[in-house]
Amino acid sequence: MNTHITTYYNQLAQTYDSDRFGHTYGRFLHAQERALLTCWLASVKAGSVLDLGCGTGRFLDLATHGLDASTGMLEVARQKFPEKTLQNGLALAMPLAEESFDAIFSMHMVMHLSADELQPLLAEAHRVLKPGGSLMFDFPSKSRRQLLGYKAAGWHGANAYTLQEIHAASAGQWRLEAASGFLFLPIHRVPRFMRSWLMGIDTWLCGSFMKRFSSYLIVHLIKI
Ligand SMILES: C[S@@+](CC[C@H](N)C(=O)[O-])C[C@H]1O[C@@H](n2cnc3c(N)ncnc32)[C@H](O)[C@@H]1O
Repeated sequence: MNTHITTYYNQLAQTYDSDRFGHTYGRFLHAQERALLTCWLASVKAGSVLDLGCGTGRFLDLATHGLDASTGMLEVARQKFPEKTLQNGLALAMPLAEESFDAIFSMHMVMHLSADELQPLLAEAHRVLKPGGSLMFDFPSKSRRQLLGYKAAGWHGANAYTLQEIHAASAGQWRLEAASGFLFLPIHRVPRFMRSWLMGIDTWLCGSFMKRFSSYLIVHLIKI
């Protein structure tokens, strides 16, 4: 794993929530992500749920356990959720027993792994999940980036995938249960006061046949 990532998040930890999600754009994304994740988790039998790359705990209320590479981010999460089991560790070598979780979700974490780490991540999640368990994770959409000619500057969010690539990487060990998107419209370019009005149409587009052009995609895989 790139050690810049843990250094970066250790330094950002105290201001991560307000920096990333304390404004109308961040609140828009957060609301969209939370609604979908809540709905997908409600659809599965999920007694033990791991928030992988839980950060400061934005979604820890939906999980029983959290794991993160950054001790700084975990410290903030512990203050918010002292009752949760939170561990410091890496996604590709989780300090967790085989077949011990019903569901794993991971938000804004897979974008930090390199392309050749996707398959090892799937293998590690497969090891930790019970048979029939659910894996949900998001990633930047490569189809959108290709359409707009966008290239990530630096390591942050450098890795994007198409749904076909996820499908190919997961074939044989996983069944693709569902896929959706987040942020279809360029919400950051819309006047602030109008942003919340666009939630309905944006969420509809993110779930439509055009979902691959959303900024981010999220998949729900089932371990087979
Ligand atoms: C953008 S933050 C997302 C935090 C939280 N999931 C959220 O959506 O607010 C990315 C988090 O992933 C963690 N992370 C990055 N690479 C990781 C890895 N290989 N193993 C475990 N955690 C990792 C970082 O430390 C950071 O807390």
